[in-house]
Amino acid sequence: MLCSTSRIQHPGLREKVMTAEQAAALIEPGSIVGMSGFTGAGYPKSIPQALAKRIEAEHAAGHPFRVSIWTGASTAAELDGALAKVDGMEMRLPFQSDPICREKINTGKMHFVDMHLSHVAQHAWFGFLGHLNVAVIEVTAINSDGSFVPTMAVGNNKTWLDLADKVILEVNHRLPLELDGMHDIYYGTAIPPQRKPIALYGPNDRIGVPHLSCDPSKIIAIVETDSPDRNSAFAAPDANSERIAAHVIDFLAHEVKVGRLPKELLPLQSGVGNVANAVLAGLLKSPFENLTGYTEVLQDGMLELVREGKMKSASASAISLSHEALEEFVQNIDFYRERILLRPQEISNHPEVVRRLGVIGMNSMIEADIYGNINSTHVMGTSMMNGIGGSGDFARNSYLNFFVTPSVAKGGNVSCIVPMCAHVDHTEHDTQVVVTEQGLADLRGLSPRQRAQVIIDNCAHPDYRPMLQDYFDRAQKSGGQQTPHILSEALSWHDRCQKTGSMHA
Ligand code: COA
Repeated sequence: MLCSTSRIQHPGLREKVMTAEQAAALIEPGSIVGMSGFTGAGYPKSIPQALAKRIEAEHAAGHPFRVSIWTGASTAAELDGALAKVDGMEMRLPFQSDPICREKINTGKMHFVDMHLSHVAQHAWFGFLGHLNVAVIEVTAINSDGSFVPTMAVGNNKTWLDLADKVILEVNHRLPLELDGMHDIYYGTAIPPQRKPIALYGPNDRIGVPHLSCDPSKIIAIVETDSPDRNSAFAAPDANSERIAAHVIDFLAHEVKVGRLPKELLPLQSGVGNVANAVLAGLLKSPFENLTGYTEVLQDGMLELVREGKMKSASASAISLSHEALEEFVQNIDFYRERILLRPQEISNHPEVVRRLGVIGMNSMIEADIYGNINSTHVMGTSMMNGIGGSGDFARNSYLNFFVTPSVAKGGNVSCIVPMCAHVDHTEHDTQVVVTEQGLADLRGLSPRQRAQVIIDNCAHPDYRPMLQDYFDRAQKSGGQQTPHILSEALSWHDRCQKTGSMHA
């Protein structure tokens, strides 16, 4: 049973406890609302659902209204799904992965601003995104001094608490109180020209304080909950993922051998999804020791590396685990608190820090073109999948970056290596290593024409390799030769797929 005295130590704030429906009623129609939540962790569980019910009732009564929602990254059905289902979101930023939300975006029923995760807080501070009316933030507990113990995700919470006119808190009794001490909240960011360097020199350095805070007079409501995070299961790595992981690990070993990486590597960043998780699972069996992590979301694979002693420390903005991994994490939380740090996403993804630490970035993609441009977000160039997330923060600024994908999708009807990407998130100037189950293309120091040959030879699926070679050969006989293309044909593979369901000629 919920007990407002146990987790709300500040006596004045205890008086603000109310139901989710009462709290949702305090959000004005048309508001911009900054909610907590990052990769399925730390999102408010009850207020978004209560707000969705209110929006639905108002729609039925002929008074439709919507709100705009900013978060850290993706949330879950209780937030994105619930509000999207009732067409309650005018605009959403910066990342989502909910199927209903995706459908509303791709049918033009809501706006989605797809942003680099490290940009969000600073763009809010610069005033580029509009005025933040309300923050709705999940916390683990409220301390007697009025500060808050953060949850499994820090995300943009500090910024929302600072910028919003009003604050509503959800205190989630399900979260372990032992999370206290796992966070490092940096309050030193400023906007230009007042900015100073961020003195973070090692991935596990502490540069901030353990708790979040805000002016208590801004807090208009507190709602108590007892609900788990999304806790998505990971598929066991399939044969393709294992092959991709093996190529990445062989390459890292080679880089150590030739002296371009230290034997304990450099801090690892791992993107979302099953392939990224498989690479981390592969590292578990690798000869590398004393690894470190500097990533935005810590998932099962990285937790296992920490548990097994392969990784000595990991820094992230959120912990997003399967149900089984979460149980183990909670049982051994004292062990993990010594080794894991959670930071605001403006620090976990900060270009200055990523470049200084020399992070090794590993991100999944939808497709790559023969010159190394990468599409991480748009299916067939027009439909949003999830968003760019932190992939650009890490890819451009990392010491070494990998983009990984199976060579084909949709049962072989789609080649993930194409003549020209139908949308580009990471340009050929950023991409260093492309990996599929077929092999690895090391693009460092190569010109576009050299890159094309390596990608076709090493990464393309054999069913599509001759078609790509034929395109590349013919492109080299027409037009400019820095990046040869036949413009009338460059996107014909996508066009054919939309018309026939397959990229096969
Ligand atoms: N064309 C069309 N569809 C494609 C495709 C392509 N070239 N490549 C993959 N897909 C489809 C898959 O078929 C699958 O569809 P389904 O859900 O209907 O089965 C879906 O995209 C996801 O592909 P999957 O192979 O399962 O990959 P994943 O779970 O590893 O996700 C991304 C891949 C690119 C969608 C995901 O990594 C992402 O959103 N990345 C961008 C954000 C990011 O990189 N963040 C990193 C920092 S955390």
